[in-house]
Amino acid sequence: MTDLPLVNTDGDAATSPLLEVRNLVVRYNKKGPAAVDDVSFTIARGETLGLVGESGSGKTTIGRAILGLQPVTSGQILFEGRDITKASAADRRSLQGDLRAVFQDPFSSLNPRRPIGDAISEPMRVAGVARAERDRRVKEVLDAVGLAPGSEARYPRQFSGGQRQRIAIARALVTDPRLVVCDEAVSALDLSTQAQVLNLLADLRSGTDLGYLFIAHDMAVVEFLAQRVVVLNRGRVMEEGPTLEVMRNPRHHYTQVLMAASPVPDPDEQARRREAWQTLKAAAPVA
Ligand SMILES: Nc1ncnc2c1ncn2[C@@H]1O[C@H](COP(=O)(O)OP(=O)(O)OP(=O)(O)O)[C@@H](O)[C@H]1O
Ligand SMILES: [Mg+2]
Repeated sequence: MTDLPLVNTDGDAATSPLLEVRNLVVRYNKKGPAAVDDVSFTIARGETLGLVGESGSGKTTIGRAILGLQPVTSGQILFEGRDITKASAADRRSLQGDLRAVFQDPFSSLNPRRPIGDAISEPMRVAGVARAERDRRVKEVLDAVGLAPGSEARYPRQFSGGQRQRIAIARALVTDPRLVVCDEAVSALDLSTQAQVLNLLADLRSGTDLGYLFIAHDMAVVEFLAQRVVVLNRGRVMEEGPTLEVMRNPRHHYTQVLMAASPVPDPDEQARRREAWQTLKAAAPVA
């Protein structure tokens, strides 16, 4: 989709980052505090950027602003160099194949009375893809996310939580997007299912230039998937950098607290982190 009727403010798509967020501010109430307060970051093509922060720090608000689901108070959002901050409904429709989302609870967005193949092919139907091609592509993405042949004819209640998250991923990938915003996409899953879905997300991007904005409150899952991380607190960027660097040498007390609170598979390590976390919390409350 290269012929978007959007203002191209930053040169051509080939040289711009995949996504650029500039000085983003979002206020839910005119007089209230900013839920997102002067946040800037970029995502390169093929890059996974982790966005972490405690509950209420503004992660979902940023994801929704990028997806056009939340009006922006000020600042800019550029997708492949095009300013999409105030994209019209028509512009958003033409973007929807390139910029997609996976949320925490796919069950709520799946119609219980429709086979899941319908939900997966919906974005292609909107884009005018012919029936036979849609059916072929649905089978292809179901296979790519590890669901059995014939799954397209089954109903949402016939799948486990982990399988439903795979369905949501299939629906995001069916249009061959450039960027997928994953908001707490594995947070509701138990640790072993979480690991499987994280591996799936990693497999799906390998050898492609698919980018992810990977939103999580859990530093451990971000560590697994993201090359770079942005740490938020109360709507502001606390620090950012290569994930391993930030984790090895967290500059902010707040980042240390986040890391200590992350669930890890090793119970001893978990106990150590919990203890560290309690000590830190007691030393200087973050919320
Ligand atoms: N629809 C809304 N109306 C008013 N305030 C809102 C709304 N949605 C979120 N907020 C506020 O904006 C701030 C950021 O919320 P947001 O949902 O972006 O946080 P989050 O980092 O995604 O948290 P969590 O980890 O719990 O999902 C919070 O103070 C929240 O109370
Ligand atoms: Mg959230």
